[in-house]
Amino acid sequence: ADVTIRLCATDDIPEGEVRQFAVDDGRTLAVYRLDGDYFATDDLCTHGDASLSEGEIEDGKILCPYHMGSFDIRTGEACAAPCSIAIRTYKLAVDGDDVLLLD
Ligand code: FES
Repeated sequence: ADVTIRLCATDDIPEGEVRQFAVDDGRTLAVYRLDGDYFATDDLCTHGDASLSEGEIEDGKILCPYHMGSFDIRTGEACAAPCSIAIRTYKLAVDGDDVLLLD
């Protein structure tokens, strides 16, 4: 839990967009930049085999590209059917030009 992993550079994600990053331990995350802050969720939708980093961001939510369910990017809460199971979120920190994964 005390391990900090460098995910990407702050410039790797344009404002208002999402990118996919793989972590060495096998996790694949979707990392978002919203109003200058960074957030991360699992990349895999909880409804099916879709990559959320290929979805659209709208009003702080990520819309799944498969069935247009959605999740709140900040809390992971499922916001629109057919998604009903929250997506896992991760704590991030920014250190200079680096986006760090804290857990
Ligand atoms: Fe994401 Fe169905 S796979 S809404």
